[in-house]
Formats: sequence, structure tokens, C-alpha cells
Amino acid sequence: MRRARRIERVPPYLFVGISRKKAEKKAQGIEVIDFGIGDPDIPTPAPIIDTLREASVDAPNHRYPETEGLPGFRQAVADWYGRRFGLSPDPDTEVLSLIGAKEGIGHAALSFVDPGDTVLVPDPGYPVYSVGTWFAGGECHWMPLLEENGWLPDLDAVPSEAAARAGVMWLNYPNNPTGAVAGLDYFAEVVDFAKANDILVMHDACYTEVAYDGHRPVSFLQTPGAMDVGLEFHSLSKSYNMTGWRLGACVGNAELIEALMVVKSNLDSGVPQAIQMMGIEALNGPVYSVDERNAVYQRRRDLVVDALRRIGLRVDPPKASLYVWARIPEGYSSAKLTEMLLEERDIVVTPGSGYGRYGEGYIRLSLTIPDRDMERGLERLDSWTIPSRAAV
Ligand SMILES: Cc1ncc(COP(=O)(O)O)c(C=O)c1O
Repeated sequence: MRRARRIERVPPYLFVGISRKKAEKKAQGIEVIDFGIGDPDIPTPAPIIDTLREASVDAPNHRYPETEGLPGFRQAVADWYGRRFGLSPDPDTEVLSLIGAKEGIGHAALSFVDPGDTVLVPDPGYPVYSVGTWFAGGECHWMPLLEENGWLPDLDAVPSEAAARAGVMWLNYPNNPTGAVAGLDYFAEVVDFAKANDILVMHDACYTEVAYDGHRPVSFLQTPGAMDVGLEFHSLSKSYNMTGWRLGACVGNAELIEALMVVKSNLDSGVPQAIQMMGIEALNGPVYSVDERNAVYQRRRDLVVDALRRIGLRVDPPKASLYVWARIPEGYSSAKLTEMLLEERDIVVTPGSGYGRYGEGYIRLSLTIPDRDMERGLERLDSWTIPSRAAV
């Protein structure tokens, strides 16, 4: 059957192979503990669900939504930016609703990348930045995220021809998969670099509300000049345990928002209104649910970090995000170690190489599994010794 060439280019989705192996184990009656995908196990807070219950019976909400989102939702996003980051985006021109950040990221590629264009993409990184680029006919120039640079792209290391060719740069802090955070100093360098090379900056900020030890991640848009060059993608998925409801927002430069809107209005019909109302409740609601949820993840983070250190892995506790990123011993590939953990301990972790070449040498563990499962999973880890120098 004929398929478009762009489909052939896409590597197999990271979690598909793992899901298959998991299903095989399950068929043999083996319970697998899954530290793989980052999908909150903690339910959406009750007041948000109550809002959906009420909004779902209101007939106007059964109709097509406007692509740009309800004025009330866009206002709630703008107000939240004000409270959280001290910014005041215009809800009419600088805010757009998204069917989750993933949708906005994918459509941004069609809005800003032409065939043959170069896009600067972090490696390791969330796969949608590269796949979106390829779908739009663009080429990725990979920016390595290295431990010695705090997992931030070294902008001085981007070759000047690549910088001159590039039209778009993707960034993501707090970062998936490394758990790293970026500060305003770094973002100031990004704005200078973007202005000097005429590059648009697309910042995926979907983990700003998942943070530990009192850390408060910043918004790229807080950087002077950022509104001239960029967009920021937010998600309610991780902030309010709402992955299944599909809701996010894009905030930033009005002309760029308009360009994204051209693609969106032609390809999707927006977020169901009742779901946007859940978003209004979430964004305007008290922050205690976010704080309580972060306390749960922080406790899990500490347990995972300790367990990994006990079996000899090198790991720094992340300040934010849902992930622990651990260095594996020399002599193993991350795929091999992942396979061994699944075969020998019935535990799923994600190989760093699944996020790009520079993810090799690391594994990622997600904190989104219920406490009881997590404790059992960590017990299985405790009784494991990494055999010396397995075949790579
Ligand atoms: C870095 C990053 N961006 C975006 C998303 C997708 O967010 P959403 O659920 O809002 O589509 C994820 C989900 O795991 C992610 O890790």
C-alpha cells in the first residue's frame, strides 16, 4: 500500500516496542512495573472534574468550539501568566488554546518550517520537535545536551553556517528527558542568539509546574526581548494531572500566534468547550493541589534516586519534571540495560538513546506510578546487581 515518504522517515514510536514486550510478559502472568511513560497516576483534582460534569450538560458546549479558544480560557491563561510569571500577555492576540502542547508543537512546524529549512533541535529531546520538522520537509540540526553544560545547548557550539541557515530553534525547560532546568541568564543568551541569527524560538514549557525543593521554574517569555522572537507552549497535562483531557496553551508574539492559528484553523476545530472550562477552573483554582502533588513526586524522586545509587548508577536528583535521568555504567548501551531490567527484573525504564544519539549512556525513570507499585519496583531493583561488562 502506498504511503507518503514522510511517514517512512519516522522512527518507530519509542514506547511501542516496550508495550509489546510488556504485553508478552502479562500474557505469561508476569506483572511488569512500568517506569516508562510520563503520565500522572494522580487523578485530576475533584473541582476540575465537577466543572466538566456541569459543563458537559450545557447544550452550547456540544457544538464546535472556536479554534482560538474561549475568551474565558484565554483570559485565565493570561491571568495565570500574570500571577505565576509577572507577565501580561494580551488574551486576544498573544494566547491560543491547544489540544495539548503536542498538537501545538506539531502544528508549529507547519506554520514556521518550509521544505529544506533547518531547525535547531535538542538531542536528547521530545521526539515531536524532530518529527514535526520532518513532516514539514525541514532538516534537523541537532544541538547536543551534555551533562557538563547542565543539559543546556551550547549556543557557541552551533556552527555559524547552521545558525545562519536555521529558521527555528526548539528548547524545553524543565527538560524531558534530563530533568534539567534553565535560568533567565541562559534564556537571555538564547534571545541574543535568536536576534543575531534571525531565528524563532519555540519553548516547550510543559513542566514548569512540576518542581521540587521549592524551585520555581521560569518562563522563557520573562526574558527581555523574548516576546519579539518566540512562542511558549504550555500544557495542563502535567500541571493538573490532565493528560487524558487534552488541553494546553500557546503564549507569545502576536504575529507568530496568528501564523499558528492559520494552520490550526484549517486542520483542527479547537478544544471542546467543556474541557476549556476545566482549564479555567484549574488555572484559577488554588495552588494547593499542585503543591501537594509535587510533594508526592518529590518523595518518589528521592526513593528512586536512592535506589539507583544503591545499584551503582550515577544520578543527580532533578529540580523539576517527572523524570529521573541516570547515567549507566560503562560497557552497556542504554537499550541493553533497559532490556536486562525488563527480562531480569520485570521493570520497564526508557533507554536514553530513544531520545536521540546524545541520550546514549542514560536511562529515564518516570515518577508517575502509584506509590505501592513504585515501592515494589524499587525492591526488585535492590535485589539486582549489574553483571560486570555485559555485551554492548
Ligand atoms: C516535553 C514534552 N512536551 C510536550 C508533551 C505533551 O504534552 P501534552 O499532553 O500537553 O500534549 C510532553 C508529554 O510527555 C512532553 O514530555
